[in-house]
Amino acid sequence: NNRTKIKALLSTEPTGQEVIVMGWVRTFRNNQFIALNDGSSINNLQIVVELGLLDEATLKRITTGAALKVTGTLVPSLGKGQKAEVKASAIEILGDSDSEKYPLQPKKHSLEFLREIAHLRFRTSTFSAVFRIRHSLAFAIHQFFNEKGFVYLHTPIITSSDAEGAGEMFQVSTLPLENLPRTENGNIDFSQDFFGKSTNLTVSGQLEGELAATALGDIYTFGPTFRAENSNTTRHLAEFWMIEPEMAFYDIQDNMDLAEAFIQYLIRYVMDHNAEDLAFLDNRLKEEEKALPQAQRSEQGLLEKLQFVLDNRFERITYTEAIEVLLASPAYKKKKFKYEVKWGIDLQSEHERYLVEKHYKRPVIVTNYPKDIKAFYMRQNDDGKTVAAMDILAPGIGEIVGGSQREERLDKLQTRMQEMNVPVKEMEWYLDTRRFGSVPHAGFGLGFERMVLFVTGMSNIRDVIPFARTPKNCEF
Ligand code: 4AD
Ligand code: MG
Repeated sequence: NNRTKIKALLSTEPTGQEVIVMGWVRTFRNNQFIALNDGSSINNLQIVVELGLLDEATLKRITTGAALKVTGTLVPSLGKGQKAEVKASAIEILGDSDSEKYPLQPKKHSLEFLREIAHLRFRTSTFSAVFRIRHSLAFAIHQFFNEKGFVYLHTPIITSSDAEGAGEMFQVSTLPLENLPRTENGNIDFSQDFFGKSTNLTVSGQLEGELAATALGDIYTFGPTFRAENSNTTRHLAEFWMIEPEMAFYDIQDNMDLAEAFIQYLIRYVMDHNAEDLAFLDNRLKEEEKALPQAQRSEQGLLEKLQFVLDNRFERITYTEAIEVLLASPAYKKKKFKYEVKWGIDLQSEHERYLVEKHYKRPVIVTNYPKDIKAFYMRQNDDGKTVAAMDILAPGIGEIVGGSQREERLDKLQTRMQEMNVPVKEMEWYLDTRRFGSVPHAGFGLGFERMVLFVTGMSNIRDVIPFARTPKNCEF
């Protein structure tokens, strides 16, 4: 196969050289100009079909969505916005696309409509840009940690522990649950199952990550995680990807520094490697906002927002300060918040977004949350009320990172697990990290799709994962 990708051709000096390109028709104008796209670039390649090259019947088959093989010469283009075009000497139709039936037309479709035909949406400019950026982010994540000497750790998808203790797990069984016998107290007896105990899809690889970090030093996971929470929002998926670094000898300050540097690195990488895709998405957002009243439009475009995050430190505040800011806010005084604000609440998305979008106008790291709203493994502070947690809140999204310094003191950890009804006996393996050579350590989880949302400026998490899993939604 000696085809050249369109991205490469568009940056080549056109000197009449012979080329072969393959791709799909976006538009065909005046029986003369084909806009061809092969997924390598947001930009289409213009193919010029000279009069007489193709018969009437073949011309009719060049419709939006049809797949073509084009042989021709790369020549300078007279059209504006493109340096080169291909003057076709032969066009072969690899696959027809019946324009009467093809759902995608050469016009702008709404994201809602495209979600209904999610199996075809890869073929649009918007989604191809989003998924190229998603790829770049994944690549940059590995590069960032590799440069720092972290080990990429594969943690299990099927586990028997609930890392977050939130009970939001998908059960896994090799037998239909109704076929499993019951124990005396009426519970399902999983001992008859393939795994011999109750197992579930992982909600987080953190606990396994801690096992490895307390030997290998610095590790990270990057894999799918599952939450059976029935929340139908623009920021929650039942299956999402998470990056979880875990570092021995780190305290919460080190943890925050790493998370901030990590996010900035990822943004810089995409700005350097996906400039055209970002410019396209930036423009798309601006067009969309034109329909909104002035007051509802964003103050910054996508590119300005990303540059701003690179140029400015994240704000760092404690949970207690966050509550004070919220209580003193005009939004609170005018009763604009739906949920109650007082010390001890779990910050709701409306609170998080007020802090980042209205008050600090930048990403904010909130630390030292009340221990009662956080997981059992977080390190307890000396005040007896808070833990060394850190959440990063991002404009337009809210929580993008959740992390903490871990409780490395065996007795404190055991007591906390008992208080929170975490099955201590089944987690002796975890406690061994605290029994033998326990060290201060810390880590965090970055929600991959939330990061993709932030970088692409998309507003619904269903639009940044190729195959979204949300409540009542699993078409393929
Ligand atoms: O705050 P979470 O639940 O933290 C953990 O799982 C820790 N074990 C991480 C760690 O310290 N190693 O989740 C971490 C991040 C959130 O900040 C959010 O970005 C994302 O994962 N997240 C979700 N993303 C999409 N859909 C969901 N249902 C998500 N739940 C969490
Ligand atoms: Mg969290």
